[in-house]
Amino acid sequence: MKNLKNIAQAMVSPGKGILAADESTPTCTKRFTALKIESTESSRNRYRSMLLSANNLNQYISGVILFDETFYQNMIDTSQTIPQYLKSKNILTGIKVDTGAKSLAKHPGEKITEGLDNLRERLQKYHMEGADFAKWRAVITINKNIPSDTCMHANAHALARYASLCQENSIVPIVEPEVLMEGNHNINTCYEVTDKILKIVFQELKLLKVDLEAMVLKPNMVLSGLENNEKISEDTVAKMTYDVLNKNVPKEVPGIAFLSGGQSSDLATQRLNNLNKLYGNEKSWNLTFSYGRGLQQDALLNWATGNTKKAQEALIYRAKMNQHASLGKL
Ligand code: 13P
Repeated sequence: MKNLKNIAQAMVSPGKGILAADESTPTCTKRFTALKIESTESSRNRYRSMLLSANNLNQYISGVILFDETFYQNMIDTSQTIPQYLKSKNILTGIKVDTGAKSLAKHPGEKITEGLDNLRERLQKYHMEGADFAKWRAVITINKNIPSDTCMHANAHALARYASLCQENSIVPIVEPEVLMEGNHNINTCYEVTDKILKIVFQELKLLKVDLEAMVLKPNMVLSGLENNEKISEDTVAKMTYDVLNKNVPKEVPGIAFLSGGQSSDLATQRLNNLNKLYGNEKSWNLTFSYGRGLQQDALLNWATGNTKKAQEALIYRAKMNQHASLGKL
């Protein structure tokens, strides 16, 4: 399996993390509209080009996850494709290959991620055109009586089928089972559900012969629901998050890159720092970031006011803070 292990290691190498800029067009439009920015192919291109051309991004960012539209665009006002540009900056190119989370039949309130049809052919094409790694996100919702075992098994199986197809086609898979923060559940429930989904995901990865050394796990942290007001110390958050990963993630996996999932940018940074500070010496994988909102929020706010320079500085500031956090040095 040529180079895949090296790519996976590079994605999570010490002091580096991943920029998730793969919002689907509807999600990007929602974020733009909230700030009164018109969402067109061209405005999305300008925004993503602004992010990627921030000064010295490659000091902090090992790879960028792109949406299909961006993958085929040029850097604004140049004839260089975005994957070519990233390569010239020594940044790995990632591509979101799932086609979204859809309602799971006969399971109200639950989702199954789709995108396996023709995935082999799509991966071959992306690989030829410069993709180094891919992402597939499964979402697990907590509510009364859910998640069901069915939802967890179906999503874990799809993640494993995706991951094995990626490796077959020389692409490193990011395996992302996200337990959502939405809801009023307590932190113990998040722990139990995260524990269960990780267990099933690694069973399925094994069944599908996925090489654990050539993948990156992208999980949620263990947190109480957004509408739950229980007071939990940050050390407890770190302890429960580390514990659930330590129980379930084999040491062969080179790295774990968290999603930010609706935490504030500051909290996402602090929590990553706390994890590395408290458990840096005993963990067997690198613990870093693969943030979307956690890296982009401030940059987007500044860009919305027309200040490109400030937007790029905001992105770099966030990337730098997360770099320190990934080393436990804040
Ligand atoms: P957030 O960090 O905004 O949760 O996005 C990460 C991601 O890639 C979700 O799939």
